[in-house]
Amino acid sequence: MLHVNGAVVGDGAASTAESSTPLLDVQDLKVSFPGPQGAAQIVRGLSYSIARGKTLGIVGESGCGKTMTSLALLGLVAGGGKVDGTIDFNGRDLAKFTQREWQQVRGREIAMIFQEPMTAMNPVMPVGRQIAEVLVKHEKLRKGAAHGRAVDLLAQVGIPSPARRAEDYPHQLSGGMRQRAMIAMALACRPQLLIADEPTTALDVTIQAQILDLMLTLQDDAQMSIQFISHNLAVISEIADSIMVMYAGTAVEYTPADELFANPLHPYTQGLIQTLPDPDKRVERLYVIPGRVTSDIAAGCRFARRCPFADDGCRQLEPELLEVAPGHKVACHKVKP
Ligand SMILES: Nc1ncnc2c1ncn2[C@@H]1O[C@H](COP(=O)(O)OP(=O)(O)OP(=O)(O)O)[C@@H](O)[C@H]1O
Ligand code: SF4
Ligand SMILES: [Mg+2]
Repeated sequence: MLHVNGAVVGDGAASTAESSTPLLDVQDLKVSFPGPQGAAQIVRGLSYSIARGKTLGIVGESGCGKTMTSLALLGLVAGGGKVDGTIDFNGRDLAKFTQREWQQVRGREIAMIFQEPMTAMNPVMPVGRQIAEVLVKHEKLRKGAAHGRAVDLLAQVGIPSPARRAEDYPHQLSGGMRQRAMIAMALACRPQLLIADEPTTALDVTIQAQILDLMLTLQDDAQMSIQFISHNLAVISEIADSIMVMYAGTAVEYTPADELFANPLHPYTQGLIQTLPDPDKRVERLYVIPGRVTSDIAAGCRFARRCPFADDGCRQLEPELLEVAPGHKVACHKVKP
C-alpha cells in the first residue's frame, strides 16, 4: 500500500483504462512554438489512448495545453507550431499526414465542438443549410437529401420543431439550442472520434446537464469515442470513463475515472478534488489551489512551487508518469510503484 496525503492505492485498484485495441493511441505528443528565448514547449510529451465508444476526460487549469493537444489531433496547430510524436488513429499516424489528407479526416472521422458555437458557425446562413453543406461536401449527398437529413439531425439532438428551426440563423437560437445545433453539425458525418472542448462551460447548470446527457446517448447509439476537455472536474466526472489530469503541458495523473475519485494520488489532483462542491453540504467549498501555473521552471517538478510536499529532490528532477497500480499512472516522486 502507498500513502500520499491520506490517499491509499493498492488492492482492488481499477482495471486498466482501456482494454481493447484503442481507436486513438497518442505517444509522446509534443507541441512547441519558436520564440526569442528558444522554443516554448506547450505540450511536453503526452501519451494516452481512447477505446472505441469510450470517453477520455482531460482536465487542467487554463493554459495547461488542453486545446493545443486537440488542435494537434486535427492538424490545426497554427502560428509556426511544431508537432512531434505519433497520433495513431485507426492504424494511421495522423502526425505524418499532409494537409490534403487532414481534410479527409477532419469533420468526417474526427469532429470537434467548442465552448462557443458562434465561432464555428456561419452567422449569415440558416443552421439547417450549414449542416446540409457538411453533408453535401463530405457525404456527397444531393441538396434535397442533405436538407432532409439536417432536419433529422436537429430532431435527434432534441431541437423542437426541427424543420422550422432549420431555417433559423444561429443568433436566433438560445445558447443551449445553438450548442445542440453544433453537435448536430459535428455528428453529421458520423465521426468515430468527437473532440469536445469545454462544450458546456458557457451554459447554465440545467442546460449543461442536458447537453452531457445528450452526448452520452448519442455516443451509445453510434459507438463514438469522445475526448472531452474541461477545467471543471465535476463536469468531467459526469461523462468520462478515464481521466487525464494535465499540468503545465504534461500528464500528472491518468487513470480510470472511478479510481481517480477513489484514490487521487497526485497532490494537484487532490487539490482539484478538494475544490469540488461537497455533495453532502449545500455550500461550495472555498478551497482553491494556491498559486498559478508557471512555465518558467527549467528543471524539476512543475508543480513544486504550489505543492505542500515539495522538497529539494522535487525541485531538481521532473518526475516521470509511472504506473503505480494497474491502470493508474502518476508523476510524483512521493508516489512509488
Ligand atoms: N501561437 C502560440 N505561440 C506560443 N504560445 C502559444 C500559442 N498559442 C497558444 N500558446 C500558449 O499555449 C498554452 C496552452 O494553451 P491552450 O489553449 O492549449 O490551453 P488550455 O489548457 O486549452 O487553456 P484554457 O482552459 O484557457 O482553454 C498557453 O499558455 C498559450 O499561451
Ligand atoms: S514531485 Fe514533489 S513537488 Fe511534484 S507533486 Fe510530487 S511531491 Fe509535489
Ligand atoms: Mg482551451
